[in-house]
Amino acid sequence: MTTTHVTLTVNGEQREADVEPRLLLVHLLRDVFGLTGTHIGCDTSNCGACTVHVNGRSAKSCTMLAVQADGAEIGTIEGLADGATLHPLQQAFWDQHGLQCGFCTPGMIMQAAWLLSENGDPTEEEIRHGISGNLCRCTGYVNIVKSIQQAAGSLAEAESARVVAAATTEGQAVTAEPATAG
Ligand code: FES
Ligand code: FES
Repeated sequence: MTTTHVTLTVNGEQREADVEPRLLLVHLLRDVFGLTGTHIGCDTSNCGACTVHVNGRSAKSCTMLAVQADGAEIGTIEGLADGATLHPLQQAFWDQHGLQCGFCTPGMIMQAAWLLSENGDPTEEEIRHGISGNLCRCTGYVNIVKSIQQAAGSLAEAESARVVAAATTEGQAVTAEPATAG
């Protein structure tokens, strides 16, 4: 069996494996790296359950070969939380009941994370269009849309708090300059 050595950065960590050329990225993540948060719903690029980030863009990992991801930066649902603190999207799905069985949720959240990185203040229509490649058979999408709207608000608040904090620190640095004797 011919294998190819691949090296990827997954959630900030370098990972390596010898893979068969036919191995899909989703199987590399799940079966070789043990990152089973990425789901397989259809294997035919329809459902979006396998959505991850590849070099900052969302991608259905059942549509890519592992060898095509050699050298890439991959983000999966496991890398979204900050330790015990949920990502605003994870918190919003919790708060807004954006899931029922949860099967579509990791892919939905990864798709939404990419959507919000491209457009921090999407309209309902833009959200629905943005997640149109991710299928959910349980929720009817209403609470998913609400979850993404809540997360957009939380991320915008966090960003403005960060800007204010940076400006304050900068101001302190300026006022901390030693006064010249005069
Ligand atoms: Fe990849 Fe359904 S498993 S799109
Ligand atoms: Fe069940 Fe979406 S919550 S498929």
